[in-house]
Amino acid sequence: MAKRKLGILISGRGSNMAALVEAAQAPDCPYQVVLVASDKPEAPGLAWARERGVATFAQSPKGMPKADYEAAIDAALRDAGVEAIALAGYMRLLSDNFVQAWHGRIVNIHPSLLPKYKGLDTHARAIEAGDSHAGASVHIVTEELDGGEVLGQTEVAIEPGDSSDSLAARVLIEEHRLYPRVVAQWLNR
Ligand code: GRF
Repeated sequence: MAKRKLGILISGRGSNMAALVEAAQAPDCPYQVVLVASDKPEAPGLAWARERGVATFAQSPKGMPKADYEAAIDAALRDAGVEAIALAGYMRLLSDNFVQAWHGRIVNIHPSLLPKYKGLDTHARAIEAGDSHAGASVHIVTEELDGGEVLGQTEVAIEPGDSSDSLAARVLIEEHRLYPRVVAQWLNR
């Protein structure tokens, strides 16, 4: 069967993007990464992708209406033949228009056990609350922030003395396992 064409949106380091690209090397992986796009032309993840021969696109939203910025991202994704989008540390809210145009075809990885801790500072909030576990969730992107159907989750125990940085580092390792596996299942379903 033809591989599904995945586009990935990043804003920074792109370690989850890298995990998705590396997993796509497997012959039985149901997707190929056809574009990595960013709102930050200097995002380290873009350089990483470029070095590996993955097509990249960058468009800063500075000084332009949000609709024009998103139209440029949308055009780049469509030109690349993208069928599904994975957000990987993309730090910008997508407009309702964009989400509706790609309805049901965008996923995100969020560093908490959703529905707990939507938004930012998830690990600090989990530690502060005295939770026994933190984790990460892969979910469908809808108009509601971090609110779409959860497709997969992984739990990570919070250790005594954990800081949000130490916890984030352990969760990130699990994110890199979780995201490619769940994206593959999602695209196979
Ligand atoms: C990850 O913690 C992810 O869960 C969140 O943003 C971070 C991105 O890291 N959405 P990276 O850019 O993938 O390394």
